[in-house]
Amino acid sequence: MSKLRIRVDQDKCQGHARCKSLAPELFELDEYGNAHEAGDGTVPAGLEDKAWLAQTNCPEIAIEVTEE
Ligand code: F3S
Repeated sequence: MSKLRIRVDQDKCQGHARCKSLAPELFELDEYGNAHEAGDGTVPAGLEDKAWLAQTNCPEIAIEVTEE
């Protein structure tokens, strides 16, 4: 099964934090409330659905999910 990787586009993120609410394991918020992918962005096994959920719920379309 392919691995997923997430990346938050810092130019697009406006700090809505829906990603953090929906997938707290995959995102960290900085002091401005903007999201960053946790670690190197690799999605641990079992959290794939949360990665896609976060992506589709970001109002700024700031989250990229790629399959490796
Ligand atoms: Fe930013 Fe979207 Fe999350 S705007 S804080 S990546 S929901």
